[in-house]
Amino acid sequence: MLTTPPLSLYVHVPWCVRKCPYCDFNSHEGRGELPFAAYVDALLADLDHDLPLVWGRVVHSVFFGGGTPSLMPPEFIDRFLQGASSRLRMAPGCEITLETNPGTAEHGRFGGYRAAGVNRLSFGIQSFDDGCLKRLGRIHDAAQADAAVKLAQDAGFDNFNLDLMYALPGQTLAMAERDLERAFALQPTHVSHYQLTLEPNTVFAARPPAGIPAEDDSWDMQEHCQAMLAAAGYGQYEVSAYAQPERQCAHNLNYWKYGDYLGIGAGAHAKITLGSEQDILRRWKLKHPTAYLAHAGTDAAIGGDERITLQRRPFEFMLNALRLVDGFSLTRFEASTGLPRAQIGAQLAQAEANGWLAIEADLVRPTELGRRFTNDVVALFLGD
Ligand SMILES: C[S@@+](CC[C@H](N)C(=O)[O-])C[C@H]1O[C@@H](n2cnc3c(N)ncnc32)[C@H](O)[C@@H]1O
Ligand code: SF4
Repeated sequence: MLTTPPLSLYVHVPWCVRKCPYCDFNSHEGRGELPFAAYVDALLADLDHDLPLVWGRVVHSVFFGGGTPSLMPPEFIDRFLQGASSRLRMAPGCEITLETNPGTAEHGRFGGYRAAGVNRLSFGIQSFDDGCLKRLGRIHDAAQADAAVKLAQDAGFDNFNLDLMYALPGQTLAMAERDLERAFALQPTHVSHYQLTLEPNTVFAARPPAGIPAEDDSWDMQEHCQAMLAAAGYGQYEVSAYAQPERQCAHNLNYWKYGDYLGIGAGAHAKITLGSEQDILRRWKLKHPTAYLAHAGTDAAIGGDERITLQRRPFEFMLNALRLVDGFSLTRFEASTGLPRAQIGAQLAQAEANGWLAIEADLVRPTELGRRFTNDVVALFLGD
């Protein structure tokens, strides 16, 4: 029996000051004055349109992602959050995160976000090395990154994430370690530590930059950095996510637990369990901001709708759940896929025999080896 899992709300802001050469997110270089007032109207119309999918349900987290949400002045975030809370029930203490590019930090802005209800920030730092930042095409240097975080702390933000990337062009192990030390000095509650990947259709994929560390060197960086993070009190709970106790990102955890989410904004994706139909819906919106703005709130803004078939559900579930260090319970697998555990019995036994999964009663956890070969483990659940 399929039961509805916790619900989150994702809000996409599709503009950046400049497109970074490694980035394949739905982000567009914003030229001239950006149409934020119209965009908030569009977001609320979009939300109204999707509301019947989630009648009566409570929202447990909100995440403004991008693109660069911190390009949006606080009054627009405030208007959206007021509109959202008059349409949806927000859980008490609901985590509300806003992604922030340090190059957009301005005095006064963080106080405004806080007053609007934002209670968590996620800074796109990438590195504290000015040479690396330059090669990554970032719009800020390390001093600006430090200053942005301090402005936010002064405004009362004590819960924030720093995004760092490693295996950067020209980066050595010592440089990757220095980045973490600089990050720790700012006392974030959470660190996301991503290996730089060359994504198709990016400038870096077309013209790979010189000096990308070899596979073995990247692996070394990962192992050393992981140990440094642990020693500094940041527990790894997902492939790239580390947090102080009780400071895991509730929003991202809900994705990895195969929870539900509404997706509002250009190119945003949703996954919603439809209890009465015993079905799961995926929906995504038009990607381009201009097209989205023209159609938000109508069926024409929907880029696509797809029902997740029974055959596909185990694969989708594993794709998310096996990213988590603590894995998942078979009880939750049954509740959020609507399938009996017997359905995946043979694949679980195979993965256990390969040393990829450890299974104890109701709990399934990826082993160290399984975490190295996540793609192979997940592929077992692809079905025919
Ligand atoms: C939407 S951005 C964060 C906010 C803001 N746009 C910024 O960059 O400052 C999400 C994060 O994804 C990570 N990221 C983006 N492209 C990546 C890539 N090709 N490889 C690894 N991490 C990447 C970066 O760490 C980035 O901060
Ligand atoms: S990494 Fe962030 S700032 Fe750079 S283009 Fe992507 S979304 Fe924009």
